Amino acid sequence: MRSATLELIQHDQFASSQPANFNRLARVYRWLEWFSFGPILSQCRRAFLGEMKNRRTALVIGDGDGRFTAQLLKQNPHIVVEVVDASDAMLRRLMQRAGLNAGRVHPHLADARQLHLASCGFDLVATHFFLDCLTTIEVESLAIRLRRSMTPDALWVVSDFAIPDNWYGRLIAKPLVTALYLAFRFMTGLTIRKLPRHRDALQRAGFILTRQQKRVWGLLVSELWRPTPVANPISLSQKAEAD
Ligand SMILES: C[S@@+](CC[C@H](N)C(=O)[O-])C[C@H]1O[C@@H](n2cnc3c(N)ncnc32)[C@H](O)[C@@H]1O
Repeated sequence: MRSATLELIQHDQFASSQPANFNRLARVYRWLEWFSFGPILSQCRRAFLGEMKNRRTALVIGDGDGRFTAQLLKQNPHIVVEVVDASDAMLRRLMQRAGLNAGRVHPHLADARQLHLASCGFDLVATHFFLDCLTTIEVESLAIRLRRSMTPDALWVVSDFAIPDNWYGRLIAKPLVTALYLAFRFMTGLTIRKLPRHRDALQRAGFILTRQQKRVWGLLVSELWRPTPVANPISLSQKAEAD
Protein backbone atom coordinates (compact mmCIF):
# COMPACT_ATOMS: atom_id res chain seq x y z
CA MET A 1 0.00 0.00 0.00
CA ARG A 2 1.29 3.43 -0.91
CA SER A 3 1.99 6.17 1.58
CA ALA A 4 1.94 9.53 -0.15
CA THR A 5 0.96 12.34 2.15
CA LEU A 6 0.30 10.39 5.30
CA GLU A 7 2.93 9.31 7.77
CA LEU A 8 2.57 6.76 10.52
CA ILE A 9 3.89 7.19 13.99
CA GLN A 10 5.05 4.07 15.81
CA HIS A 11 3.26 4.55 19.03
CA ASP A 12 0.17 6.38 20.14
CA GLN A 13 -0.60 6.59 23.83
CA PHE A 14 -4.31 6.50 22.99
CA ALA A 15 -4.18 3.28 20.92
CA SER A 16 -4.02 0.75 23.70
CA SER A 17 -5.46 -2.22 21.78
CA GLN A 18 -5.36 -3.86 18.37
CA PRO A 19 -7.92 -2.43 15.94
CA ALA A 20 -10.90 -4.67 15.18
CA ASN A 21 -10.27 -7.12 12.36
CA PHE A 22 -12.89 -6.68 9.62
CA ASN A 23 -11.11 -8.93 7.08
CA ARG A 24 -13.55 -11.82 7.47
CA LEU A 25 -16.49 -9.51 6.84
CA ALA A 26 -15.20 -7.81 3.71
CA ARG A 27 -17.07 -10.04 1.24
CA VAL A 28 -20.37 -10.15 3.07
CA TYR A 29 -20.39 -6.71 4.66
CA ARG A 30 -22.78 -5.06 2.23
CA TRP A 31 -25.22 -7.96 2.48
CA LEU A 32 -25.13 -7.95 6.29
CA GLU A 33 -25.92 -4.26 6.11
CA TRP A 34 -28.69 -4.75 3.58
CA PHE A 35 -30.42 -7.48 5.62
CA SER A 36 -30.20 -5.47 8.85
CA PHE A 37 -30.89 -1.89 7.76
CA GLY A 38 -31.88 -2.05 4.09
CA PRO A 39 -30.89 1.14 2.23
CA ILE A 40 -30.81 3.41 5.31
CA LEU A 41 -27.07 3.34 6.08
CA SER A 42 -26.38 4.06 2.44
CA GLN A 43 -28.74 7.06 2.63
CA CYS A 44 -26.75 8.30 5.64
CA ARG A 45 -23.46 8.10 3.70
CA ARG A 46 -24.96 9.97 0.75
CA ALA A 47 -26.60 12.65 2.90
CA PHE A 48 -24.20 15.51 2.05
CA LEU A 49 -22.66 14.28 -1.21
CA GLY A 50 -24.07 17.37 -2.95
CA GLU A 51 -21.89 19.61 -0.74
CA MET A 52 -18.71 17.79 -1.80
CA LYS A 53 -18.75 18.59 -5.52
CA ASN A 54 -16.00 21.23 -5.35
CA ARG A 55 -13.70 19.31 -3.00
CA ARG A 56 -10.22 18.36 -4.25
CA THR A 57 -8.33 16.42 -1.56
CA ALA A 58 -10.20 14.00 0.65
CA LEU A 59 -9.27 11.75 3.54
CA VAL A 60 -11.68 8.86 4.01
CA ILE A 61 -11.14 6.78 7.14
CA GLY A 62 -12.66 3.33 7.73
CA ASP A 63 -14.71 3.25 4.52
CA GLY A 64 -14.79 -0.53 4.55
CA ASP A 65 -15.68 -1.95 1.15
CA GLY A 66 -15.66 1.51 -0.37
CA ARG A 67 -19.19 2.29 -1.38
CA PHE A 68 -18.93 5.91 -0.24
CA THR A 69 -15.53 6.41 -1.89
CA ALA A 70 -16.85 5.03 -5.19
CA GLN A 71 -19.76 7.47 -5.15
CA LEU A 72 -17.53 10.39 -4.21
CA LEU A 73 -15.14 9.65 -7.10
CA LYS A 74 -18.00 9.25 -9.55
CA GLN A 75 -19.68 12.56 -8.76
CA ASN A 76 -16.42 14.51 -8.40
CA PRO A 77 -14.05 13.87 -11.35
CA HIS A 78 -11.21 16.00 -9.90
CA ILE A 79 -11.00 14.73 -6.37
CA VAL A 80 -8.04 12.72 -5.07
CA VAL A 81 -8.76 10.48 -2.11
CA GLU A 82 -6.46 9.19 0.61
CA VAL A 83 -8.07 6.17 2.20
CA VAL A 84 -7.12 4.70 5.57
CA ASP A 85 -8.40 1.38 6.84
CA ALA A 86 -7.01 -1.27 9.19
CA SER A 87 -8.37 -4.11 7.04
CA ASP A 88 -6.48 -5.10 3.90
CA ALA A 89 -9.42 -7.16 2.63
CA MET A 90 -11.66 -4.11 2.92
CA LEU A 91 -9.09 -1.93 1.14
CA ARG A 92 -8.85 -4.43 -1.73
CA ARG A 93 -12.62 -4.36 -2.19
CA LEU A 94 -12.59 -0.58 -2.02
CA MET A 95 -10.01 -0.40 -4.82
CA GLN A 96 -12.00 -2.88 -6.95
CA ARG A 97 -15.15 -0.88 -6.42
CA ALA A 98 -13.40 2.36 -7.43
CA GLY A 99 -12.96 0.79 -10.89
CA LEU A 100 -11.68 3.20 -13.52
CA ASN A 101 -11.31 5.89 -10.85
CA ALA A 102 -8.87 3.82 -8.75
CA GLY A 103 -5.95 5.92 -10.00
CA ARG A 104 -7.25 8.79 -7.86
CA VAL A 105 -7.30 6.68 -4.69
CA HIS A 106 -4.27 6.18 -2.42
CA PRO A 107 -4.95 3.35 0.01
CA HIS A 108 -3.17 3.14 3.38
CA LEU A 109 -3.35 0.03 5.52
CA ALA A 110 -3.09 1.59 8.97
CA ASP A 111 -4.62 2.01 12.38
CA ALA A 112 -6.17 5.47 12.22
CA ARG A 113 -5.36 5.98 15.89
CA GLN A 114 -1.67 5.95 14.97
CA LEU A 115 -1.86 8.31 12.03
CA HIS A 116 0.47 11.21 11.98
CA LEU A 117 -0.85 13.60 9.38
CA ALA A 118 1.58 15.92 7.68
CA SER A 119 0.03 19.25 6.68
CA CYS A 120 -1.88 17.67 3.86
CA GLY A 121 -4.50 20.35 3.23
CA PHE A 122 -7.49 18.06 3.17
CA ASP A 123 -10.65 19.91 2.25
CA LEU A 124 -12.82 16.91 3.00
CA VAL A 125 -12.72 14.23 5.68
CA ALA A 126 -15.28 11.42 5.77
CA THR A 127 -15.87 8.93 8.57
CA HIS A 128 -18.98 6.83 8.04
CA PHE A 129 -19.78 4.33 10.78
CA PHE A 130 -16.15 4.42 11.81
CA LEU A 131 -15.95 6.65 14.90
CA ASP A 132 -18.03 4.04 16.73
CA CYS A 133 -14.94 1.77 16.57
CA LEU A 134 -13.08 4.22 18.86
CA THR A 135 -13.34 5.53 22.42
CA THR A 136 -14.21 9.16 23.07
CA ILE A 137 -10.60 9.99 23.90
CA GLU A 138 -9.39 8.29 20.70
CA VAL A 139 -11.90 10.30 18.66
CA GLU A 140 -10.65 13.51 20.27
CA SER A 141 -7.01 12.61 19.68
CA LEU A 142 -7.73 11.84 16.02
CA ALA A 143 -9.82 15.00 15.60
CA ILE A 144 -7.03 17.20 16.98
CA ARG A 145 -4.57 15.74 14.47
CA LEU A 146 -7.09 16.02 11.63
CA ARG A 147 -7.82 19.63 12.51
CA ARG A 148 -4.19 20.56 11.82
CA SER A 149 -4.16 18.84 8.44
CA MET A 150 -7.38 20.37 7.11
CA THR A 151 -7.95 23.57 5.17
CA PRO A 152 -9.91 26.34 6.95
CA ASP A 153 -12.95 25.73 4.72
CA ALA A 154 -12.81 21.93 5.03
CA LEU A 155 -15.80 19.70 5.65
CA TRP A 156 -15.93 16.63 7.84
CA VAL A 157 -18.86 14.32 7.19
CA VAL A 158 -19.79 11.84 9.89
CA SER A 159 -22.40 9.09 9.87
CA ASP A 160 -23.06 7.12 12.99
CA PHE A 161 -25.46 5.48 15.36
CA ALA A 162 -26.87 7.52 18.23
CA ILE A 163 -28.99 6.95 21.30
CA PRO A 164 -31.67 9.64 21.59
CA ASP A 165 -32.26 10.97 25.09
CA ASN A 166 -35.88 9.79 25.40
CA TRP A 167 -37.92 6.61 25.97
CA TYR A 168 -37.18 5.40 22.43
CA GLY A 169 -33.46 5.80 23.09
CA ARG A 170 -33.62 3.92 26.36
CA LEU A 171 -35.98 1.12 25.34
CA ILE A 172 -35.12 0.57 21.67
CA ALA A 173 -31.94 2.32 20.49
CA LYS A 174 -29.69 1.48 23.44
CA PRO A 175 -30.43 -2.28 23.50
CA LEU A 176 -30.09 -2.37 19.70
CA VAL A 177 -26.71 -0.61 19.75
CA THR A 178 -25.54 -2.89 22.59
CA ALA A 179 -26.56 -5.94 20.53
CA LEU A 180 -24.68 -4.58 17.50
CA TYR A 181 -21.54 -4.09 19.60
CA LEU A 182 -21.83 -7.67 20.88
CA ALA A 183 -22.20 -8.98 17.32
CA PHE A 184 -19.15 -7.01 16.11
CA ARG A 185 -17.17 -8.10 19.15
CA PHE A 186 -17.87 -11.69 18.14
CA MET A 187 -17.19 -11.16 14.42
CA THR A 188 -14.21 -8.77 14.53
CA GLY A 189 -12.82 -8.68 18.07
CA LEU A 190 -13.93 -5.05 18.49
CA THR A 191 -13.24 -4.12 22.12
CA ILE A 192 -15.40 -0.98 22.24
CA ARG A 193 -18.68 -1.51 24.08
CA LYS A 194 -20.47 1.81 23.80
CA LEU A 195 -20.73 4.72 21.42
CA PRO A 196 -18.09 7.41 21.89
CA ARG A 197 -19.35 10.92 22.68
CA HIS A 198 -18.04 12.04 19.31
CA ARG A 199 -19.83 15.42 19.36
CA ASP A 200 -18.10 16.46 22.58
CA ALA A 201 -14.79 15.20 21.20
CA LEU A 202 -15.09 17.08 17.90
CA GLN A 203 -16.15 20.29 19.62
CA ARG A 204 -13.21 20.10 22.02
CA ALA A 205 -10.89 19.53 19.07
CA GLY A 206 -12.05 22.71 17.32
CA PHE A 207 -14.95 21.68 15.07
CA ILE A 208 -18.46 23.01 14.83
CA LEU A 209 -21.55 21.07 13.79
CA THR A 210 -23.20 22.89 10.90
CA ARG A 211 -25.83 20.42 9.67
CA GLN A 212 -27.42 17.26 10.91
CA GLN A 213 -29.94 14.76 9.53
CA LYS A 214 -31.59 12.08 11.65
CA ARG A 215 -33.06 8.80 10.52
CA VAL A 216 -35.05 6.06 12.26
CA TRP A 217 -36.16 8.50 15.01
CA GLY A 218 -32.59 9.50 15.79
CA LEU A 219 -30.96 6.05 15.81
CA LEU A 220 -28.86 7.14 12.82
CA VAL A 221 -27.30 10.55 12.27
CA SER A 222 -25.50 12.18 9.35
CA GLU A 223 -23.53 15.25 10.29
CA LEU A 224 -21.53 17.97 8.59
CA TRP A 225 -18.76 19.53 10.66
CA ARG A 226 -16.37 22.41 9.91
CA PRO A 227 -13.23 23.65 11.65
CA THR A 228 -14.08 26.60 13.89
CA PRO A 229 -12.52 29.78 12.45
CA VAL A 230 -10.27 30.54 15.41
CA ALA A 231 -9.74 27.14 16.89
CA ASN A 232 -6.90 26.61 19.26
CA PRO A 233 -7.53 23.10 20.49
CA ILE A 234 -5.52 22.11 23.52
CA SER A 235 -3.80 18.84 22.71
CA LEU A 236 -4.39 15.95 25.03
CA SER A 237 -0.68 15.72 25.79
CA GLN A 238 -0.64 19.44 26.69
CA LYS A 239 -3.66 18.81 28.90
CA ALA A 240 -1.93 15.88 30.56
CA GLU A 241 1.17 18.03 31.17
CA ALA A 242 -0.98 20.78 32.72
CA ASP A 243 -2.75 18.30 35.08
C1 LIG B 1 -18.17 -0.65 10.81
S1 LIG B 1 -17.09 -0.61 9.43
C2 LIG B 1 -17.75 0.75 8.51
C3 LIG B 1 -17.48 0.63 7.04
C4 LIG B 1 -18.05 1.74 6.18
N1 LIG B 1 -17.50 3.04 6.51
C5 LIG B 1 -19.53 1.84 6.25
O1 LIG B 1 -20.05 2.96 6.24
O2 LIG B 1 -20.20 0.81 6.28
C6 LIG B 1 -15.63 0.07 10.14
C7 LIG B 1 -14.45 0.14 9.20
O3 LIG B 1 -13.41 0.82 9.89
C8 LIG B 1 -12.23 0.06 9.86
N2 LIG B 1 -11.53 0.28 11.13
C9 LIG B 1 -11.93 -0.07 12.39
N3 LIG B 1 -11.05 0.35 13.31
C10 LIG B 1 -10.06 0.99 12.63
C11 LIG B 1 -8.87 1.68 13.01
N4 LIG B 1 -8.51 1.80 14.31
N5 LIG B 1 -8.11 2.23 12.04
C12 LIG B 1 -8.47 2.14 10.73
N6 LIG B 1 -9.58 1.51 10.32
C13 LIG B 1 -10.38 0.95 11.24
C14 LIG B 1 -12.64 -1.38 9.67
O4 LIG B 1 -11.62 -2.17 9.08
C15 LIG B 1 -13.86 -1.22 8.78
O5 LIG B 1 -13.52 -1.20 7.43
